[in-house]
Amino acid sequence: MWGGRFQEGPDAIMEAINASIGFDRRMARQDIEGSRAHAAMLAATGIVSDKDAEAIREGLLTVLSEIEAGTFQFSTALEDIHMNVEARLTELIGAPAGRLHTARSRNDQVALDFRMWVRDQADAAVDALPRLIAALVDQAEAGADWVMPGFTHLQTAQPVTWGHHMLAYAEMFHRDLGRFRDARARMNECPLGTAALAGTSFPIDREMTAKALGFDRPAANSLDAVSDRDFALEFLSAASICAMHLSRLAEELVIWSSAQFRFVRLSDRWSTGSSIMPQKRNPDAAELLRAKLGRILGANVALFTVMKGLPLTYSKDMQEDKEQVFDAADSLMLALAAMTGMVSDMAPQREALEAAASSGFSTATDLADWLVSEADLPFREAHHVTGALVAKAEARGCDLPDLSLEEMQDAHPAITEGVFDVLGVHNSVASRTSYGGTAPDNVRSQVKRWREVLP
Ligand code: ARG
Repeated sequence: MWGGRFQEGPDAIMEAINASIGFDRRMARQDIEGSRAHAAMLAATGIVSDKDAEAIREGLLTVLSEIEAGTFQFSTALEDIHMNVEARLTELIGAPAGRLHTARSRNDQVALDFRMWVRDQADAAVDALPRLIAALVDQAEAGADWVMPGFTHLQTAQPVTWGHHMLAYAEMFHRDLGRFRDARARMNECPLGTAALAGTSFPIDREMTAKALGFDRPAANSLDAVSDRDFALEFLSAASICAMHLSRLAEELVIWSSAQFRFVRLSDRWSTGSSIMPQKRNPDAAELLRAKLGRILGANVALFTVMKGLPLTYSKDMQEDKEQVFDAADSLMLALAAMTGMVSDMAPQREALEAAASSGFSTATDLADWLVSEADLPFREAHHVTGALVAKAEARGCDLPDLSLEEMQDAHPAITEGVFDVLGVHNSVASRTSYGGTAPDNVRSQVKRWREVLP
């Protein structure tokens, strides 16, 4: 491949470790798009003739159609997608193919292809996330006033609404959406034309190629542009945070769908059976979603480790960037689609949710608040009195609303019949009207806001 300089070909093992065609063929479309833009620019600037550029651009379309049809013969000896495409172009159009690589290097070529590939994935995430958010908003709307236990330490804390809990995840995924958008905006500078590392003496037009390829501008520093992989790290970091959110929701679905909780029923479409235990409905999709962060964060750590301490500019280490990102992107897109389907299909169990919300003394805080606002106790004393009442109920094996007024008044004489109004879970959630609180009316207005925000 390297013409005059070498007498011997590579060792077979050298070829195996050196080649990236096994995976970078996934960037064929970006490679060809980039080369077509480059050829058009070479003609516009008079660096190659219009005739040669036209032959190159047409030939590249033929190569693309062969790759898409699956008839293209990839060669490991040709190392990577860039050389494979160019070699085939030479077979197809002959000598003019040799002019395509003028004022260009594989270093800026790979930086370009990979950046465009990652940009497509950021776009795909920006496309997929609103669908997941919409599924959560639908769930929130249907159960805006359904009551469930809210937890801290996975111990019953206070009643909340199902809708509020669903919208908590909508917030998280919306931040993820913002992170992918931000990453995309930052990565949208074109490295093409930086050549090997130093720029070129040919009178190229980098504005023209940048524009043709949908970039906001050409990257300003050639050394940075060929060696930058921030865009991939930023994508992986956004993907890791998103996968972490997916894992938290997935974990809740695993817990909630258990026989001990029965908060939700996952549809058959998102469950599996057991080969031995006929009663089983396993939440496999949720478990896999819980696990995906392992791969995605793994890719993130791997790429950070590859890039750490690399001197400027290109080093072959950087060929190790792609497989990690490909796998992480595939995992993320599959995970987002699976979570969207599972959330859309799942059936929250209103009665089980409400029964759980009503147990575990979940309205103890409401009782303490009542003692403050209706009986004028300092909060610390109210907390103590309420604690004593919880202990009493626990000893009797009942819940707070089951205590008699006399029992209440034993704990504090200022307690009146009115206290029973705040011990019910519906009153409890309805009272949480502070901005961002769990009250059903808040949930309904947030649902309305989401409907306006979502595309
Ligand atoms: N296959 C290489 C990669 O993925 C392309 C760039 C090679 N450049 C070079 N000078 N060897 O990074």
